Amino acid sequence: MTQWPDRMLFGGDYNPEQWPSSVWDEDVQLMQRAGVTTATVGVFSWGRLEPEPGHYDFGWLDDVLDRLHAGGVQVLLATATASPPAWLGRLDPGSQPVTADGVRLGFGSRQSYSPSSATYRTHALRLVTELALRYGRHPAVVAWHVNNEYGCHVPSSYDEESAQAFRTWLTARYGTVAELNRAWGTAFWSQTYQGFDQVDPPRAAPTFLNPTQQLDWARFSSDALLALHRAEVQVLRELTPELPVTTNFMGFFKHADYWAWAPHVDVVSDDAYPDPADPDAYVRLAASRDLMRSLRGGQPWLLMEQAPSAVNWRPLNAPKPAGLHRVHSLQAVARGADGVLHFQWRQSAAGAEKFHSALVPHAGPDTRVYAEACALGGELAQLSGQVAGTRVPARVAVLFDWESWWAVEQEATPTTVDYVATVLDWYAPFLRRGASVDLVHPSSDLSGYGLVVAPATHVLSQEDLTRLDAYVRDGGHLVVTYLSGILDRDLHVWLGGYLGPLRASLGLRITELAAAATPLTLAGGLPGAASTWQDVVEVAGPDVEVVATFADGHAAGGPAVTRHPYGAGVAWYVATAPEAAVLDELAGRWLAEAGVEALLTAPVAGVEAVRRGDRLFVLNHTGASVQVPLVGGAVQLAPYEVLVREA
Ligand code: GLA
Repeated sequence: MTQWPDRMLFGGDYNPEQWPSSVWDEDVQLMQRAGVTTATVGVFSWGRLEPEPGHYDFGWLDDVLDRLHAGGVQVLLATATASPPAWLGRLDPGSQPVTADGVRLGFGSRQSYSPSSATYRTHALRLVTELALRYGRHPAVVAWHVNNEYGCHVPSSYDEESAQAFRTWLTARYGTVAELNRAWGTAFWSQTYQGFDQVDPPRAAPTFLNPTQQLDWARFSSDALLALHRAEVQVLRELTPELPVTTNFMGFFKHADYWAWAPHVDVVSDDAYPDPADPDAYVRLAASRDLMRSLRGGQPWLLMEQAPSAVNWRPLNAPKPAGLHRVHSLQAVARGADGVLHFQWRQSAAGAEKFHSALVPHAGPDTRVYAEACALGGELAQLSGQVAGTRVPARVAVLFDWESWWAVEQEATPTTVDYVATVLDWYAPFLRRGASVDLVHPSSDLSGYGLVVAPATHVLSQEDLTRLDAYVRDGGHLVVTYLSGILDRDLHVWLGGYLGPLRASLGLRITELAAAATPLTLAGGLPGAASTWQDVVEVAGPDVEVVATFADGHAAGGPAVTRHPYGAGVAWYVATAPEAAVLDELAGRWLAEAGVEALLTAPVAGVEAVRRGDRLFVLNHTGASVQVPLVGGAVQLAPYEVLVREA
């Protein structure tokens, strides 16, 4: 397989089946004018391609691919399995998904299939085989786009076929029902099982469900979707081994553990729909791009979908002001994307997404949105030679773990936590300083990082904890926050003060977990406000520096922030959620102590600075002009301006 992408891609989802063929020639001309390199074709075409089971209509797709090829537009061909046709549910009503409350979801929307349905899988794989045989060597086709946004609407199904698959999955995981009983702690509330056949999905129940049952259901549901993806990939690899495969991820999407998925694509791709009305959206956006880059160890990735302007699925669908779309696009490039694609090429005239923006709007090409698309296409073509294929160096790692996410957001926990929002609170100070961050799984090799932050990393195994301990002993700088290291991977508590072996590295134990009902004040060397949480912390000895204490609340007088020189490194603990100004101060200190470079001399909101390859990107996400304190000389950026220069 040759390296792909081999240049910066630009384009989007192209759904020609929504239009008469008379429009297709104009499409190709307008694509050429805009500099479109790549069209994603066929994402929702199953019903058109296979109007009856086993009867295919490929003529129109032949025509579309030939026209695109003649026009110099490459095709990312979708496997079209994202939305089965009406006949599948009639053939096997059991293939349609069921909610936790037992409601079977009907046809008439999209993604109407249960991930564990054998009927769906059989028909989907037959279609993939037909497509691979027919188009695998078509000169327009450069890669496969498998399915679409797995789990977006139906992350799991509680039907009986899924229940059976869950039992099989549990049997493979635990071997014996005794081991399942141990892991799930079923001695509690008389939940002991005598056989795997007694175990069900966590369907609607009288009150709190077993936590480990819920965690295993989340693991199983992610695995069930991944199994579908892998089954398609297996067909494609057999029939078209030279074509790369990808499937579009959804950034911080709770229901698919992308660490497990990433090895099963050749290139990571992502869909991102920030709210133009939210001035802080750029933080989550930056972090999700960093996650996408990190999933395959820094390999360039693709922004597969974004909206050129408004979406149609928020209560209020704000358009992007002129210039903002360029900032979003170049942010993705700065953070490692080798392609900027969109949903969708031409705005629909009918159907559920007719009010979603597109590169060619309802009003036609003589519009601001199409003009911006043409400008962006030209700019990306220029940038291609400068940055395509290059890497984004990062020396800060923030741990990101789907199992911690699933566990910390369960019911019956000490407090309600939004895991991603919490991770972003700890990511943002580095963004505000222009210090690049990789997101990493707790089991990753951390030795290349100068600074590692573990925000609310609720679930950590003995091996994870030992690795983090060794990281500090070997000279690393580690920051651990409240709610980290509370449970092992069976969701059993780390007894004796939580944190397992990290108690030694941090030089403390936690004697009480406590949600904070009122705002908190930090005293000592780090005054400021905090909220949400306060552990009751007992330090182990005089070598632990108490950097800040709680002035009030349940843990008043106790340590809030501690620093422990340990081995050749330093381990910090933060027992609360400090306000942004305090985090900025701490982040500055952590970076300096760890010797990690920041591109800005002071924290700035709404602005980012990133180095990729030998280019420096400075982006202003705000509608105001800003002074950016770059190391080596401040620069002034106009509203939504992006500066790209040699680093
Ligand atoms: C997702 C889907 C697209 C489209 C967009 C709308 O990303 O993959 O088909 O529905 O949302 O924002």
